[in-house]
Amino acid sequence: MNHEDIVRLLEQLRRKYKTQGRPQVVRAPGRVNLLGEHTDYNEGFVFPMAIDAGITMVGALNGTNQIQLYSLDFEASDRFSVEEIVPSSSRRWTNYIRGVCAEFKKAGLPLQGLDLILEGNVPQGAGLSSSAALEVAAALLISALHDWEMDRVELVKLAQRAENDFVGVASGIMDQFASMMGQKDHALFLDCRSLDYELIPTPFEQQGYSVVVTNTRVQRGLVESEYNARRQECSEAVEHLKRHLPGISSLRDVSMDQMPLIQALPPVLAQRARHVVTENDRVLQGILALQAGDLVRFGQYLNASHDSLRFDFEVSCPELDLLVELAQKVQGVLGSRMTGAGFGGCTISLVPQRSLNFFKETVSREYRAQTGLEPEIFVFSASQGARTMEAAAPPQS
Ligand code: GLA
Repeated sequence: MNHEDIVRLLEQLRRKYKTQGRPQVVRAPGRVNLLGEHTDYNEGFVFPMAIDAGITMVGALNGTNQIQLYSLDFEASDRFSVEEIVPSSSRRWTNYIRGVCAEFKKAGLPLQGLDLILEGNVPQGAGLSSSAALEVAAALLISALHDWEMDRVELVKLAQRAENDFVGVASGIMDQFASMMGQKDHALFLDCRSLDYELIPTPFEQQGYSVVVTNTRVQRGLVESEYNARRQECSEAVEHLKRHLPGISSLRDVSMDQMPLIQALPPVLAQRARHVVTENDRVLQGILALQAGDLVRFGQYLNASHDSLRFDFEVSCPELDLLVELAQKVQGVLGSRMTGAGFGGCTISLVPQRSLNFFKETVSREYRAQTGLEPEIFVFSASQGARTMEAAAPPQS
């Protein structure tokens, strides 16, 4: 987001709402997960990075009890009172912001009227967390406008509650955490139980590789119901395992050397638990490989993660499998896997920079030939998490 864009958004704010208050600007990125899929709600490890696509929001207090907002992307507006914040069924995109506002109120904070304008470039419905970016942008901007001194991790938790309790999607904490806490040239190693985290340098570009994200352009209606079913199966697996391991409270507590106990579970539960336990291990091993500068080994963990998500956790789909297979066939590609919740959305691949054009051409051509769909291909760098930016002085009328 450059200076001209910020000035343009601030001008829109003033023109549309005649806003007088002191404006502020926030930018929050989407995320892509490198390793650690479907582990966050099992209190395990994840390893996402914030990407260089995000949502920019400008806003100011307006001295009323009304919250007014306008999305430049949707060319749509919304207005609601701080006294009564309920989900909207007609403008569902506003629920992420309504949810954040409702959570601030629930936390006992004196929410005031606001004018907000937003614009973004995170592909929607692609599993790159455009909704988490929206929640995080709203949480950071609204707290800044009210001068509430809030810890960033508290804001992450609040944004997750907006998603879980207000929007009604039972996601884990990874997406909001990555959007808020990411850092340029680093991926975020997060322990989803303690919320301890460490920023790990990503040596991809340095070693001549790019993180390539390829969108299947399919989105299965199944995502939500299957996501909830997987959560349920993971809890059932824990209940079974407790008979032998009474101290455990989640699959996070089960280690690789307890695999024989997992193999003895009813078959589907064994598959689900095997994925989570091996995936947690892949995050730890993958980080060691990265720290040793061993991208070849890191790529092998990506491939293994995909197989595990495909065969054990069963959250892939034919289009994701095809993209992964096509990517893995391109010479020099170190690894590829589905990323995000699954059932559509995107893959990530580690591609040599010198083969980027060849990768784009061959993967697109083959994918188009076999599915009739045109994939979208992005090259993302690890980027800074949410930040407030200097609002230029309001333009004079
Ligand atoms: C979605 C959820 C995350 C996480 C992933 C799977 O993106 O929002 O919390 O569970 O799926 O790893």
